Amino acid sequence: MQNFIFHNPAKIIFGHDQISSIGNEIPGDKTVMIVYGGGSVNRNGTLKKVRDSLKNHTVYEFGGVQANPHYETLMEAVALVKDKGVNFLLAVGGGSVIDGTKFVAAAACYDGDAWDIVKSYGSVVKRALPVGCVLTIAATGSEMNNVAVVTKAETKDKLFFASPYVMPQFSVLEPELTFTLPPNQTANGVVDAFVHVLEQYVTYPVNAKVQDRLAEGLLNTLKEEGPKVLTDTEDYDARANIMWAATMALNGLLSTGTPADWASHLIGQEITGLYGLDHARTLAVMIPAIWKYALADKKQKLAQYGERVWDIPASDTETMALQAIDATVAFFETMGVKTRLSDYGLGDDIIPAVTNKLKEHGHVALGEHANITTEKVEEILKLAL
Ligand code: NZQ
Ligand code: ZN
Repeated sequence: MQNFIFHNPAKIIFGHDQISSIGNEIPGDKTVMIVYGGGSVNRNGTLKKVRDSLKNHTVYEFGGVQANPHYETLMEAVALVKDKGVNFLLAVGGGSVIDGTKFVAAAACYDGDAWDIVKSYGSVVKRALPVGCVLTIAATGSEMNNVAVVTKAETKDKLFFASPYVMPQFSVLEPELTFTLPPNQTANGVVDAFVHVLEQYVTYPVNAKVQDRLAEGLLNTLKEEGPKVLTDTEDYDARANIMWAATMALNGLLSTGTPADWASHLIGQEITGLYGLDHARTLAVMIPAIWKYALADKKQKLAQYGERVWDIPASDTETMALQAIDATVAFFETMGVKTRLSDYGLGDDIIPAVTNKLKEHGHVALGEHANITTEKVEEILKLAL
């Protein structure tokens, strides 16, 4: 196991009817801005519950944050924050709204060009407004981490930044809020969380038994519970297990003392930025292709994963690793998430655009060994066609 420091100060308020506690979580003298997305929280009544909980606060609202939030839209929110003297931000939505709110929190306190925040991967952030969250989709883990992903629509740059200053102070996780998700978004969430675990687990062994067993527990949970909510959308226990698994998948715990990959995320981000494919779908396409390409580096952990998550019988390591890849692809397909670029109408003509963006963003040595060069990404994209 490698050395690590683990510190996660986000407070999680989990279960039935927890939105009513928000009014007590935010000090009464705060001027709050509720940030939300395209309107699902209006239609399913979540926003009304949030407003009720904040009836004794001064509250402004900013709606219209799109999936894969746009810098351009978020800067409108920053202007509102400054105009109204807002000093607490409450994100009500999924990863996009939470990420967008984190960006607004940092940008409202930054004096230079706010895109610097993203361009510097967060290193220029020295303070931010406090952020709270009401999570409406189990997927990204943004509710309990310090990462945000923002897209500049003008240039199609989709980039993440990280800063301890944007860590949510609290996040309300009510599994019932996810009952209204359309099946494709439920599936996206399960696949995204599943891949977050895989990226921190399918690397090379460092004898980190706690982290491995945690990862395998989360993968088994997502594998068992994911398909249930596609048919029974209001299965509370399944929704609750998926929600907590997704949060745990990317709150920093799994990558303590272990190597991490993130190649599928970095390549996938460029595909979403350029072509608009949903985040989780880019991952479902990229991770099997990366594994096939990097089989020699990953086969030991792949075989372990196959045995402990997919009950693949013991045989030689490479055969088990290949069977684990097949089982993963079959699982994504069962969730209704396709696993080839061609399934989404994308062909080999995207390869130069994707690799150019990766180069532009300085992502030229990917994977846990930093040995996936731009040329290798080209080969991996061919395997994903
Ligand atoms: O905009 P509204 O109307 O709210 O609709 C949303 C949106 O269309 C809808 N939705 C959310 N909750 C709902 C609901 N519809 C009905 N009922 C509900 N309860 O779902 C759609 C997708 O929402 P979005 O927030 O985009 O989904 P997700 O949580 O998957 O977030 C994806 C974004 O997070 C980033 C991705 O890159 C992408 O931009 N990520 C953030 C990470 C992080 N901060 O750590 C890590 C991830 O790897 C990921 O990159
Ligand atoms: Zn992700």
